[in-house]
Amino acid sequence: MPMAKDFLLNVEGLTVSFDGFKAVNDFSFYVDEGEIRVLIGPNGAGKTTVLDLICGKTKATSGSIRFRRDELTKMSEHEIVNAGVGRKFQNPSIYEDLTVFENLEISFPRGHSVFGALTFKRDAEVVDAVQQTAEMIFLADSLDKTAGLLSHGQKQWLEIGMLLIQDPDLLMLDEPVAGMSVSERKKTAELLTRIADGRSVLVVEHDMQFVADIADRVTVMHQGKMLSEGSMEKVQNDPKVIEVYLGH
Ligand SMILES: Nc1ncnc2c1ncn2[C@@H]1O[C@H](COP(=O)(O)OP(=O)(O)OP(=O)(O)O)[C@@H](O)[C@H]1O
Ligand SMILES: [Mg+2]
Repeated sequence: MPMAKDFLLNVEGLTVSFDGFKAVNDFSFYVDEGEIRVLIGPNGAGKTTVLDLICGKTKATSGSIRFRRDELTKMSEHEIVNAGVGRKFQNPSIYEDLTVFENLEISFPRGHSVFGALTFKRDAEVVDAVQQTAEMIFLADSLDKTAGLLSHGQKQWLEIGMLLIQDPDLLMLDEPVAGMSVSERKKTAELLTRIADGRSVLVVEHDMQFVADIADRVTVMHQGKMLSEGSMEKVQNDPKVIEVYLGH
């Protein structure tokens, strides 16, 4: 089917096999600029593997991942980050011994500074970026707090902030609300909706209330393949989706 328009992310025929097992099998999907897309499906469907492939952690066996003009399957993880793709893993990788401020500060892109990380000067630009980001992630009052003392939900937000401060055009998050309280889930939905103003967000999540709150469109995976795609209402009422996933 010829595409009339250009998407931010074009994934086509993506396949990866681990010892002959195709965890992702001829999978195609397209993400628009400014869209929140949620990838759902049963355990083992291949959702995390798709994120691993996009961020370059896992190399595709075949297929294409085009992000604007860049073919990500040919790039290193580092090059993919520089191309504007940020990825949050399931377990937050924050620096527990540093403060919230310092965690955000060290994530700020260094640009062409000739100084190493340790001698980096706190100039106004960095402080501004840290404060703006802290406000976004509900941690403006906790800048001096040691990150290890934050709640589970606040640690998740901090890691989102550490990605946000790098200003990615595509932000990918794997089960961001797992282990969060109901009120933290609501705030995270609000946060992702704000984040998507000016960038695209790709989320893997099992919490259907949260998915309904944030998704522009939903893509359902099953056994490495696309099972269904469309609005939350559409996929929720798709008998195939009910059979393999939502009916349980
Ligand atoms: N590096 C690997 N080597 C071998 N098999 C793998 C590897 N990574 C993933 N798999 C397998 O690929 C399949 C898809 O795994 P994946 O983690 O992508 O599923 P998922 O949809 O994220 O599931 P969940 O909802 O449980 O997180 C699983 O059967 C898994 O065991
Ligand atoms: Mg997973």
